[in-house]
Amino acid sequence: MDVTNSAVWFTVSFVLIAAIAIKIAKGRTMFGSSRCTMPTPPVVDGISLIRFLHMLLTKGLRATIHDQHKRMGSVFTVSFFGQKLTFLVGPEILSHFYQGPDSEISHGNMLDFMIPMFGKEVGYGVDFTTRYEQIRFYIDALTRPSKLRVHVGPMIQEVEGYFAKWGQDGIIDLKHEFSMLLMLISSRCLLGKEVRNKMFDEIHTLFHELDSNGMSLSSVLFPYAPTPANRRRDRARSKLSEIFTEIVRSRRCSNQVEEDVLQNLIDDAKYKDGRSTTEGEVTGMIMLLIFGGKHTSTAATTWTGARLLSSERSLTAVAEEQKQIVRKYGDHIDYNVLLEMETLRCSIKEALRMHPPAAVDFRKVHKNFTVETKEGHKYEIPRGHTVASPILFNSNLPHIYKDPDVYDPSRFSRERQEDKIGGKFTYAAFSCGRHTCAGEAYTYMQIKAIWSHLLRNFELKLIYPFPETDWGKLMPEPKGKVMVSYKRRPLPIN
Ligand SMILES: *[C@@H]1O[C@H](CO)[C@@H](O)[C@H](O)[C@H]1NC(C)=O
Repeated sequence: MDVTNSAVWFTVSFVLIAAIAIKIAKGRTMFGSSRCTMPTPPVVDGISLIRFLHMLLTKGLRATIHDQHKRMGSVFTVSFFGQKLTFLVGPEILSHFYQGPDSEISHGNMLDFMIPMFGKEVGYGVDFTTRYEQIRFYIDALTRPSKLRVHVGPMIQEVEGYFAKWGQDGIIDLKHEFSMLLMLISSRCLLGKEVRNKMFDEIHTLFHELDSNGMSLSSVLFPYAPTPANRRRDRARSKLSEIFTEIVRSRRCSNQVEEDVLQNLIDDAKYKDGRSTTEGEVTGMIMLLIFGGKHTSTAATTWTGARLLSSERSLTAVAEEQKQIVRKYGDHIDYNVLLEMETLRCSIKEALRMHPPAAVDFRKVHKNFTVETKEGHKYEIPRGHTVASPILFNSNLPHIYKDPDVYDPSRFSRERQEDKIGGKFTYAAFSCGRHTCAGEAYTYMQIKAIWSHLLRNFELKLIYPFPETDWGKLMPEPKGKVMVSYKRRPLPIN
C-alpha cells in the first residue's frame, strides 16, 4: 500500500470514527437513555465519497459495491448533496425492499418522467390501487397461460416470416435484427393484425421518437421543461394516442373481436368497482407495454445470443435440446413445445443474471424500517432515504453463484437451482415480490421462439469480440453492433 493510499485510509477511518462519535453524542442528547435507538447505517461521505465516486466512474458498479461491502458490511449509506442513498447488499436483506407496502416504500416520484410519455391515466400517473388493477389487466391479457398460449401462434409466424427473408448466408447486426423483429411481434401480439400490416413503419418511427426523446437524460431529469426533446416526445405521444384511440373506437363499435392484447384490455379489463377501461387508459397501457418490452427484450435476446455463441459447451447443450425437439415434433413448434425447452430457458435466465436489464433497483423510503444483516447487525433505515438493491452485484455473489463470471446455464437446472440459495430475492433480473415484471413469461416465450428458430435453421458465428455493456443507457444494453455471420443450414439431427 503506497503513501497516498494509507493517507486516504487513515482519513476514511478518522472520518468514520468522528461520524460515529457525533452520532452517539447526538443520540444521547436527543433521546437520553430512555430510548434504545437502533443505529442508522454507516455513511460514505467526505473523502470516502470521493473515493466511491472515483471508483464508480473508473471501475464500474460491481467493483465499487464489492469494495464498499468489504469495508462497511452489507448496509451502508452514500451521502451527497444532502441526498442519502442506502445500499442493501445481498439477497438476505431485501424482503422489505421488494415486499413492503407502497405506503412505506415505493418508487416515489423517480419514474415520473414516464407520465408525459404515457399519460396521466396509467402507470405512475395514477394511485397505487389503480396501478395494481392495471397490472392485473396486463397479466390477464398477456401472461396468463390461456392467453399466452394464444399469443404464441402469431409470435412464431412473425419469427418464421422474418428469418425467411434472410439469404443463404450473410453478416448481420444481431441487435438491429432483434429490435426490428421484436417490434413486429409486439405490433402483432399486442396491437393486432391491422396495425401490424398497415401501419408498422409509422408506429415504429413514432415509438422511436417517443422513447429516444422521453428517455434522454434531460427529459428524465426535467420531464416538463420546454426543451426540444420534450416537445418531440409530446408530439410523438399525441400522434400515437390518436392512432390508438382510433383503433380502440373502431374496435368498440364494429364488434370486431380479435385475440390480441388490445382486445383484452378493451373487453375483459374491469376495475373492482365494475368500471371498464377508458380510451385513454387502453392507449396508455398498450404504449407502456410496448415500451416495457422494447429495449429490455432486444437486449435480453442479444445477450443470450452473444453468450451462447461464445460458449461452445452451452451452444452444444441448447443445440442438443433442439435436436431432440425436432426428432419429437419435426418443425411444428407451439406453446407446449416451447415450454419443454428447459435448457434454452436456463440459457436465457443465465444471460440475464450476467446482464440484468437494470443494474440497480431503487426505492424511496416513506416510513422507517429495520434490516438485519446476515452477520446479525441491525440498522434502522430512516424515511427520506433512497434505498438501492444492487442487482448486478447480488447476481454475482460467489457464495450463491459458483464461478459467477462463467456463463453456466446449468446452474439453474433442477439439480442445482442456485437461484434459490439466498431465498426469494436471489434472482432479481425481473425484479421481485410486489414489483415482479408482469411480462416475464411472455418475454421468455418470445426469446425462446426466436432462438429455437435460429438454432434449428442457421449456423451462426460471432465475428466481433464479445460486446461490452453500454452503461450510458438507462437500460444497459450491448455496446455498438453485435455482428454475426450466418449460414442457412438445418440442424443435423443424427
Ligand atoms: C426514523 O429514523 C430517524 C433516524 O434514525 C429518527 O430520528 C426518527 O425518530 C425515526 N422515526 C420514527 C418514527 O421512529
